[in-house]
Amino acid sequence: MKMLDRIKNAANSRKDTKFYFFSGKGGVGKTSVASATALWMARKGRKTLIISTDPAHSLSDSFGRKIGGEVQKIAKNLYAVEIDPKKAMEEYKEKFMPEIERMDFLKGLGLDETFDIAGMTPGIDEVASFDKFLGYMNSREYDVIIFDTAPTGHALRFLSLPDVLDSWIGKMIRIRMKFSGIANMFRKFLPFGSEEEQSIGTEHLDEMKRRIEEAKKILTDPEKTSYNIVMVAEAMSIYESERSLETLNEYGIPVKAVIVNQIVPENGKCEFCAARRKQQLSRLEYIRKRFGKYRIIQVPLFKEEVHGIRALEKMGKHIYGSSSS
Ligand SMILES: Nc1ncnc2c1ncn2[C@@H]1O[C@H](COP(=O)(O)OP(=O)(O)OP(=O)(O)O)[C@@H](O)[C@H]1O
Ligand SMILES: [Mg+2]
Repeated sequence: MKMLDRIKNAANSRKDTKFYFFSGKGGVGKTSVASATALWMARKGRKTLIISTDPAHSLSDSFGRKIGGEVQKIAKNLYAVEIDPKKAMEEYKEKFMPEIERMDFLKGLGLDETFDIAGMTPGIDEVASFDKFLGYMNSREYDVIIFDTAPTGHALRFLSLPDVLDSWIGKMIRIRMKFSGIANMFRKFLPFGSEEEQSIGTEHLDEMKRRIEEAKKILTDPEKTSYNIVMVAEAMSIYESERSLETLNEYGIPVKAVIVNQIVPENGKCEFCAARRKQQLSRLEYIRKRFGKYRIIQVPLFKEEVHGIRALEKMGKHIYGSSSS
């Protein structure tokens, strides 16, 4: 093997980024678990980025400091960013302005139905956030990227976006081809019928498509991506997790662990706590049966909310303390 190749390979393997997703109902502890995981990984010496697309800025809450829209270092080996979906959308629109103007123009001509515009637009803010995520994903700068999403089903929607986008971009390319046919016929009447405008290719659409295909491969590769379910030991949360698992299976997305959070600790003096704990333990029995093939991790309900580095460290110890990962 040539020296240069060896160096290249070494660099590649060092930056073979691992991805972590956490899914679950609202308020079960996704952000806390994601942040605790990020801190744990960083302390293990892995350069870690935690990304959130939750407009509620919950990462800032979790780490007890302002984070914001630009990546910033928050501890040794630990970086964080809160993608603001609205801002991402503005940036994205700017990038795709020619396409969006064309679409408005088509609508004006009453041609939008012909081109099925309504059917091809997923939530543009979600697409924009995903585009940003792809940027970080492909940067090869981090050993670990952890993704924290807004409540309920959001992570699943996020993971299904590559498929949605794939067909969206396919349609966009077809529209472009049809449209340039029309534009050639009516060149004189069109506001953007110049030779130069016509020659704008589909490069950035092609590039986006390529990036999405790459993302799909990575997000369904169990060696690279670990998808985890966070739940509490309550009926509604369990049902939701069962549904999530079905969807994940459909997408061929590998699930690593089921984290059962907020288990009331033993306390002989508190009747209320004992009753809650008893019910949770019986739910836990069911969880063990139902999700037996995954790693099941229990996390106690702490006296205090999980805010700040110390609390996150404590949670991390409960989740990963007895394992080598
Ligand atoms: N094991 C725990 N013990 C005590 N408090 C906890 C525990 N886990 C989470 N919390 C607290 O519960 C609240 C909700 O947790 P968190 O924000 O992590 O949930 P989430 O699933 O991300 O919520 P959302 O769906 O709104 O994004 C937070 O105030 C957090 O500090
Ligand atoms: Mg959250």
